[in-house]
Amino acid sequence: HRHLLGIEGLSAADITGLLDLGEEFVALNRQIEKKQASLRGRTQINMFFEVSTRTQASFELAGKRLGADVMNMSASSSSMRKGETLIDTAMTLNAMHPDILVVRHHASGAVELLASKLDCSVINAGDGAHEHPTQALLDALTIRRNKGRIEGLLVVICGDILHSRVARSNILLLNTMGARVRVVGPSTLMPPGIERMGVEVAHDMREGLADADIVMMLRLQRERMNGSFVPSVSEYFNYWGLDTKKLAYAKKDALVMHPGPMNRGVEIDSIVADGAQSLIREQVEMGVAIRMAVLEALSRNLPNA
Ligand code: CP
Repeated sequence: HRHLLGIEGLSAADITGLLDLGEEFVALNRQIEKKQASLRGRTQINMFFEVSTRTQASFELAGKRLGADVMNMSASSSSMRKGETLIDTAMTLNAMHPDILVVRHHASGAVELLASKLDCSVINAGDGAHEHPTQALLDALTIRRNKGRIEGLLVVICGDILHSRVARSNILLLNTMGARVRVVGPSTLMPPGIERMGVEVAHDMREGLADADIVMMLRLQRERMNGSFVPSVSEYFNYWGLDTKKLAYAKKDALVMHPGPMNRGVEIDSIVADGAQSLIREQVEMGVAIRMAVLEALSRNLPNA
């Protein structure tokens, strides 16, 4: 592959290959000396039109650990503030001959559009409510390390499914890898026809979490709600927030995940987020390793490689 625009289009073998490569980088990242040379001489530009902590920081570290020259560009300090279009901004950067562009944008499809116009490899770091492929890959690596497999597990994704690119990418990946996926959340935050993605749908947490091996919580994305349905925080937490009482509906050895950023006391209680069943910190560690794996895999297809 030349780009990574989504999980859609990746085979189980592609995904397993990236997870295996990611596993090698987990070991490397725990060493004192972390520097590799596979991207030496290459230029990576991170173009973020939406805020980010984890994705941007880990793509920067990942590129640097593989020896690339990495430049970070944020939309708030770019000439888009003066009216330059997305395409013109991207073509301007393209003229500087980057090898890899990592893009986050608030519009679904924006990253694919850029990939069709640019000469370099493009990686989707999250586009609107469409896909966030590296998040799903790092989640899969975290699950595989802790459960020893993905196939046959019941993964329950909870909360604001409607606005979540993380949910979409995870559903695609988990289905491809043979897991069972269930989504649970308020009907107002459930995309119409979600069943067609091959998931079970539940309408309360007791029913939804029954037999879960993995409980994946999502942030309530109030910034994407445009006033249509903005639930009150206390009511939301009461029905859908993961606390110890609701977690007890899942299997005894269920593990808890959250892509971050977390809103404590909204979708997840601190006792659970910081508890023994939580994988949230490990997800962040896997984020660096999996982004190194993606960069390394794409670098093998760069011109003159
Ligand atoms: N999970 C995730 O994408 O986090 P950031 O928005 O901080 O990158």
